[in-house]
Parts: sequence; C-alpha cells; structure tokens
Amino acid sequence: MSLQDKIRQLTELRSQARLGGGEKRIAKQHQQGKFTARERIDLLLDEGSFEEYDMFVTHRCHDFGLEDQQYLGDGVVTGRGTIDGRVVFVFSQDFTVLGGSLSETFALKICKVMDQAMKMGAPLIGLNDSGGARIQEGVNSLAGYAEIFYRNIQASGVIPQISAIFGPCAGGAVYSPALTDIIIMSEQTSYMFVTGPKVTKTVTGEDITIENLGGADIHTKKSGVAHFKSKDEEEGILLIRKVLEYLPQNNLEEPIVTECDDPIERIDDDLNEIIPDDPNKPYDVKDIIHRIVDYEEFLELQRLYAKNIVTGFAKFGGMPCGIVANQPNYLAGVLDIDASRKAARFVRLCDAFNIPIVTLVDVPGFLPGSFQEYGGIILHGAKLLFAYGEATVPKITITLRKAYGGAHDVMGSKQLRADLNYAWPGAEIAVMGAKGAIEVLEGKKLSKVEDPAERDMLQQKLEEEYREKFANPFIAARYGYIDDVIEPRNTRWRVARALRSLATKKEVGPPKKHGNVPL
Ligand code: HXC
Repeated sequence: MSLQDKIRQLTELRSQARLGGGEKRIAKQHQQGKFTARERIDLLLDEGSFEEYDMFVTHRCHDFGLEDQQYLGDGVVTGRGTIDGRVVFVFSQDFTVLGGSLSETFALKICKVMDQAMKMGAPLIGLNDSGGARIQEGVNSLAGYAEIFYRNIQASGVIPQISAIFGPCAGGAVYSPALTDIIIMSEQTSYMFVTGPKVTKTVTGEDITIENLGGADIHTKKSGVAHFKSKDEEEGILLIRKVLEYLPQNNLEEPIVTECDDPIERIDDDLNEIIPDDPNKPYDVKDIIHRIVDYEEFLELQRLYAKNIVTGFAKFGGMPCGIVANQPNYLAGVLDIDASRKAARFVRLCDAFNIPIVTLVDVPGFLPGSFQEYGGIILHGAKLLFAYGEATVPKITITLRKAYGGAHDVMGSKQLRADLNYAWPGAEIAVMGAKGAIEVLEGKKLSKVEDPAERDMLQQKLEEEYREKFANPFIAARYGYIDDVIEPRNTRWRVARALRSLATKKEVGPPKKHGNVPL
C-alpha cells in the first residue's frame, strides 16, 4: 500500500469513527432532542481547539456476539481542547454506540484523559449519556468504573471536575459524577439513580416514573445532588463554561481576575433602606447580592435546593469569590440540615480552589424539632462549622441583621478565623432572640403576674429592654468580634477593598493526614 493509500485509509477510518453508532442511531438521538457526543464537544470547546485521543480504540470482548459489533472509539469521545483559551480535558459518552455503555477499553480512554488532566493541572469535564456498565463485559466493566472513581477521588480538590448529565446515568455509574465538584442536568432528557424504576418496583413495591425518581427536577429541588438544571443541552454547556470562569486551573493557581468597568467605589444609597424596620419581615438577600457585586452578576449554585441559604459565585472588581448568604425570604433564613450540607460543601469547594468567601448573615438560628434532631442536625450543622473553620482562603463576613446563638458562630464568625467581620448598624448579634431570652430569664417573675394584660405589658417591656441592650452590633464590636460597623451603602467598596488586601493571605493549619469531617 502506498503512503497515499495509507493516508486515504486514515481519512476513511476517521470518518468511520466520527459516525459513532451510525446515521440511524444519530437520527434517533436527534429525535429525542439530544446532541451527539461530538456535537456536544463542538459546542463546549473553543472552535477548532479539540484534539481527540484514542479514536481507533475498539473493545476486546468476544462474548454475546459483541465480537461482530466493533465501533471505532468504542462509545466515548475523549481528548483535550480549550475553553476561553484555557486547556481542559474532556470525555463525552456516545449513546449511539451500544447505548454509551462502559467497557474496559471505554474506561481506559476516560482514565487516560483523567491522568493527563491531573499531570497538566487542568479541569476535567465529563459529558454523560450512558446505559451504564456494558453488560457483556461483566466484571471488567465494574473494574473500569472503579478505576474512574479512584481517579475522581485523587483529583478532588486538585483540579476542577465538572459533570453534565445529558441522558441516562444509572446504577453505580452515578458515583463518578457524584464525586465531582459540579453536576449539571438537562431538563426532560437526563436522569440519575442508583436503582431504576423497574427494580424499585420489584424490591419495594413503589411505582414511580423515571422523571420522578431521578429527573433534573428531583435532583435540583429535592435531593440536592445536582447544582444546575438546564432547559436544554446548549444551556447546560454554557453553564459549564460559565462555572469555569470562577475556578482556577488547579489548586495551586488563583482564580483569574478579569477586567472590570463596574466601579468598585460605587455607593448604593438604596442599600440603607433595603432591610425592613420590622425584624420579622422578610426580604430577598439576592437583591443585596446583586447590588454589591460586579454587573449584578451572580451565578447561583443549587438555586432550587435548601432555598433558606444562597450559595454562588460573583466578582468584586473582577476578583472571583464565593458568596454564602442566609435567605430571610425562605423559612426566615433558618439553618437546617439541607442548608448546612449545601453551604458546607460550597465553602469546601471555594477553599479547595483558592476562592475567597464572602458571607452575608441574617440567621435566626438552627431549626428546632424532632425531625431535624433525628435527621442529625448536630452532625450536619457541624459540617458547616468544620468547613468554615478549616477554610484558609480569605473570609469576609457581614452581618446584615440577625445572628443568633450557635448559628452566629457557624456563619463565618471571627472565632472561626474570618479575616474581616463587618456588621450593618441594624445587626442583632446575641445569644438568642428577645422572646426566648425573656422566657428563660424572667419566666418565673412573669408567671407571678396574675392579670394577663399586665403580664403581656411587662413581657413586652422586658423584651424591649433586652433588644435595646443586646440586639445590636456594638456589643460584639466592643469586644473586637466585629471589626467595623459599616453603612450598608458602602458595602461594595468595603468588600472589594478587603478582598484586594487579603489576596496575599497565607494560613497553614497543623500537619495532619486529613481532618475527620463529621460526614
Ligand atoms: C450493553 C446496552 C446497555 C448496556 C443499552 N445498551 N444499555 N448494551 N450494556 N448497559 C444497548 C441496547 O441494547 C441498544 O442496543 C442500545 O444500547 C440502545 O439502547 P435502547 O434500550 O434501545 O435505548 P433506550 O430505549 O433509549 O433505553 C435506554 C436505557 C436502556 C434505559 C438506558 O438501554 C437500559 O435500560 N439499559 C440497561 C441499563 C442497565 O441496566 N445498565 C447496567 C446497570 S448496572 P441496540 O443494538 O438495540 O441499538 C451498572 C453497574 C455499574 O451500570 C456499576 C459501577 C460501579
């Protein structure tokens, strides 16, 4: 064969590989409103930047007739490319080839890009659309999964790992995305579960649809497994690119500071009026976030889950940061199990990737009750405590209104080594609210007053006295627990200036293998 013939052969093999499972199956994929593995990569990466690896790999299985079904690339497209000029590694499962099922060689291809991502210190992006373990390959498929899981674990906190789910993701296969930092699910076309509806019905008798068991709605609202629900794959892919804007390439780099035309010294007089005078009246903390960050841009993570706490990325003067904020608009911003878990994981993500944390506090306390106690609020609340205390990135905390009891300590307090603690003048920082405090301290005295009207008046008077005395920021400021009481309208430039001066922060904890997070 001449070299020209060999070049022709190469071109032919490449075209064959690009067809995946063939035109019929590609058409079926499109009919279902799904892109193919390659189309997804084209949408994700900078134009012309994709360099494919292992295009000619085929499986090694000789059972169940698979020996006659060979597809170049074996059901997963892997390689390297750039996003906004930054190198990323990617794998994209091809459902048109044997349902995107994972074989030994399929797993080896994924492991190769994972290893390269680690060596090069670059993010790893997984686009999932697979029927799970390739049944014909048995334990080799299971071993392949476990090799991937191990690499996910090693890479955790070293390089950003992002997973998009654009089709089925079931059985043990869910654990690779679960080990990554961010999960995005497309509406209607994706689902994740450990056990599917059929087996669920057989084992437990529960009759449930795929969508209700593990659709994007369930995992963004109920379970909290996924961080984003996209209306389609295009939006999902845009979200991957957006998330990466806030993350560095790896844990040894800082997030990229971008140019910013939104003046950091911008003063917003409306902020002085934004919190209602009545301490029991709710407001939307996201209005405050939008007003203080660059261009009102806030990329919220887990927007629909545990809405009593808000987490997400924003920038101040082009500097990326993570924002954690209690949400008075939902359950009064109380800390419960879900909110504690959500915020703890986010704080750890920020800390792993050198992203400063800005905390906005308005929290009445932890949610009381047997449901929370039986569910282990003690451990879950401790997760958040642990995450804040362990984080060594710059930490700025602003108490907007309430900060009561243990919740005050947990939410980035000075004693958990926040670098700067500010409070707005209306802040109420105390061990507990006025009503509860007076009941404990003056209950006996009050019970001796026989006339109910007189008792009420006395109670109100005592509560008012307590509020005047304790529910303000100045007592904490007197002790230095609050570094400064700031006017709300100045918040943006105070935070931006603080972030700039904290950028050189170095803090190293005691040597240890790792802490024992109350999981
Ligand atoms: C081999 C598979 C496959 C699999 C699908 N296919 N899943 N081949 N192993 N796991 C093949 C089908 O035979 C079919 O081949 C083609 O892919 C497309 O599948 P369809 O069923 O036609 O597609 P659809 O109707 O869209 O249904 C998708 C599906 C279904 C719901 C994912 O295929 C399905 O239930 N698959 C099995 C899922 C499963 O039980 N996986 C193993 C889980 S155990 P043809 O030739 O007809 O086009 C597991 C353990 C992991 O994953 C453990 C890790 C620790």
